[in-house]
Amino acid sequence: MKNEQQYKALLANFLKANSEDVFLYWKGRVALYALLKAMGVKKGDEVILPAYSCVVVPNAIIYLGAKPVYVDVDLETYNADIQKIKDAVTEKTKVIICQNTFGLSSNVEELIELAKQNKLYTIEDCTHGFGGTYKDKPNGSYCDAAFYSTQWNKPFSTGVGGFALVKNESLRASLKELNESLVKPSVKQVLMLRMLYFVKKYFLSGYTYWTLVRFYRFLSKHNLILGSSSGEEITSIQMPENYFMGISSVQINVGIKNLTDIDKTLILRKKNASIYTDYLMSVSKNFVPKSLFENHSFLKYPLLVKDREMVIKQAEKQKIELGDWFNSPIHPVQNGFEQWGLSSDLFPNSFFAGCHMINLPTDTTNPDKVCAFLDSILDLIMDEKSY
Ligand SMILES: Cc1ncc(COP(=O)(O)O)c(C=O)c1O
Repeated sequence: MKNEQQYKALLANFLKANSEDVFLYWKGRVALYALLKAMGVKKGDEVILPAYSCVVVPNAIIYLGAKPVYVDVDLETYNADIQKIKDAVTEKTKVIICQNTFGLSSNVEELIELAKQNKLYTIEDCTHGFGGTYKDKPNGSYCDAAFYSTQWNKPFSTGVGGFALVKNESLRASLKELNESLVKPSVKQVLMLRMLYFVKKYFLSGYTYWTLVRFYRFLSKHNLILGSSSGEEITSIQMPENYFMGISSVQINVGIKNLTDIDKTLILRKKNASIYTDYLMSVSKNFVPKSLFENHSFLKYPLLVKDREMVIKQAEKQKIELGDWFNSPIHPVQNGFEQWGLSSDLFPNSFFAGCHMINLPTDTTNPDKVCAFLDSILDLIMDEKSY
């Protein structure tokens, strides 16, 4: 496919990589599953990951029969603490996953050193971090492999979509072989995707945002529409039918188009984040420190609030496009954490963040409206380091 080669070349160019190291998938989670499989992850193995992620990450590990081993995060970067990662390594550990939570890269250097000493693979979850950097290189440059998402809310979008980037050459051949068994998206799925692009383009605005988001989530939870996650991915650990799916040509074409605006969007995101930090500092509320800005792509601006329900109600009234990522340690799961092997008493920071997190929109052209909204709910925002 000519367009497939073009898309891979564009992605590789942005990531300063080779296009033969880029592998395209229906969703980011499928890229993670493929990487874990190519690394030989199987029953009895352990995979370390942050205890503040999306449920589809532990799902990919569980689908291979392996055990997710969670590590608590810190409340400044929302990434896993390196000392806690060290403590979690056992002789069964096969892979460590680090994550660009909300767009911020983790401290990958120390992680790679740890992995080398213990002969482990590393994967960077760059689903939030496309466009961010670590030590002057694009996120995803240092680990054995990385994976990215191009789902609705991601740095650039193809509706649903994702890809893997391989750095460790030994993985390339097994990934290629594995991909021979990728299922093709059905005509119905592709049509639904086209319909969703249409609705987003012509109907999504500040006025319709909350109604459409709620309606979309309801439909996808009940498997009535092509959703970011199907019902069974959120309520069980069963692998959905036709999970291992390749990308469609419609996603590729939309990706090529949307990738062209990425530099402008990244500048806007950082500018808005800076406005939010200045405002939040001026009113002594929690904020993302400027020392983290250099590497941050600010897919979302994380903010801890005292009463999330109240804040969301106010946002809806004032037509603010607020996000509620990650509203749980394994977003968006709200109960039954045991089936994912997660216990609330062992990960206090991750559970705390899951209860109090909201995200400010960083791609807005009206950040002053967002600051005015924050001003109106000041008492509901957590104070600077009050937690
Ligand atoms: C941290 C994290 N990892 C992985 C994924 C999976 O990406 P996708 O929805 O493209 O499968 C997500 C989804 O938002 C995520 O937030």
